[in-house]
This record gives sequence, C-alpha cells and structure tokens, in this order.
Amino acid sequence: MTPDRRLKIAPSILAADFARLGEQVREAEEAGADLIHVDVMDGHFVPNLTMGPVVVEAVRASTRLPINAHLMMYEPERLIPDFVKAGASQVIVHVETCPHLHRTAQQVRELGARAGVALNPSTPLSLVEDALAYVDIVLVMTVNPGFAGQAFIPEMLPKVARARRMIDQAGRAVELEVDGGVNVATAPQVVAAGAEVLVAGSAVFNRKETVKAAMQRLRESLSRAEGQARGTR
Ligand code: DX5
Ligand code: ZN
Repeated sequence: MTPDRRLKIAPSILAADFARLGEQVREAEEAGADLIHVDVMDGHFVPNLTMGPVVVEAVRASTRLPINAHLMMYEPERLIPDFVKAGASQVIVHVETCPHLHRTAQQVRELGARAGVALNPSTPLSLVEDALAYVDIVLVMTVNPGFAGQAFIPEMLPKVARARRMIDQAGRAVELEVDGGVNVATAPQVVAAGAEVLVAGSAVFNRKETVKAAMQRLRESLSRAEGQARGTR
C-alpha cells in the first residue's frame, strides 16, 4: 500500500430509507462520503430488482458527489447512455455480462464517464487482466451480488491483494474498489489488502445509528488501519 493513498467511502443507497432518499444522500455527503453508489439489479443476472436511471437522476439532484452506478444486469450497453445522461459519473459493468468488455468500456468513456468492471466472488481476476489498459476501476465483489446486509466472504481478501498486485504491476492508474459486507471490522482488512474505494450499504444506512455516526466509525476504523500499516512498514 502506498503511504498516502486516499481511501474513499462510497455509501450504497440500496440500504437507505427510500422514502427519504434525498435526505439520506445529503446526510451521507455531509458526513464525508466521497461518492454515492447506486446498485442497479435486473432480477435476472442477480436475484433482485432495484433501480434504474430515474433514481440516479433523483440522487443527482440531491448531491454534488460523483455517482457510481453499479450495473448488475445483462446487456448493460442498452441502458448505459441513460445512466450517464441521468448523472452517473462512473459506470461499473460486470465482466460476466460483457463478452465485449473493450467495446462496453469505450462506450462508457465516450459518453464522458469513468469505466469500471466488477467481478463476482467466483470469477477469476485473469478475466480482467487484459482490460486494465482501458478501464478506470476494478471492483472486487466480497459478497454474491443481489442484496445489502450480507456477510463478507473472507476468502476474498487474498483476491483483493492479488488484484492490488496485478494493478500495481501493470503500472495503471486503475482504482481498486471493494463491495459487499464492508463494516468497521472488515474495512481495515480490505484496506490492508490494498483496496482504495470501499462501498458500504448497511454499515452506513441502518436503524441503529445516524448516518453521521456510522460514517465516523467507519472512517475511524480506516485511520486505525492506515496507522497500523504505516507502523509495520
Ligand atoms: C450487493 C451490492 C452492494 C450492497 C452493499 O449486491 O452490490 O453494493 O448494497 O451492501 P452491504 O454493504 O450492506 O453489503
Ligand atoms: Zn454495489
């Protein structure tokens, strides 16, 4: 891990109170969120159905933060223009749904957004190795996509570390993002493994604490992890 790599927190609105979406997004921004993560599910690639471009548009109207659209859907190419038009600044597609990833990533970039590629827990990293030249973000799923609030899969930690090495060895400015089961206990572990963008749903939006308190606890767990990493170098 480079000493001054800036860690970003991306609250996932999948766990938010939808009746108060704008308010929740503003709370996250005020609490220091770096971007807002929107989980798009098609009920086909993943066993759940969630939101589309209209929700991105509503989030766009509530915050100035960049919006991370995570497309868990087949044929994302059909809707990518709509998501960018609605205000997504980063579009992450799944490698499992994109047989022509180069073309899809180019489509995203040509529309003016950053292109990302996500991998399910059981998908090997080698599938994105040759894509590092034309994507801006690699997202390693640490749960099986579909729902917020699932338990982190610990076997993914070595995969995150391998992804870190793969990106560093390629010498590319590709961001390494982790999504699923990130909380105060697992966040330091994924950071130690080399992740720099952490998606967090239920650790940020829950009934036990305010968004502000939740974000603060998450940040604190990260500073402790960074301190420890510096200490062991
Ligand atoms: C899972 C989604 C995640 C999810 C994260 O399919 O891609 O972004 O909202 O929620 P937590 O942090 O609760 O696992
Ligand atoms: Zn997600």
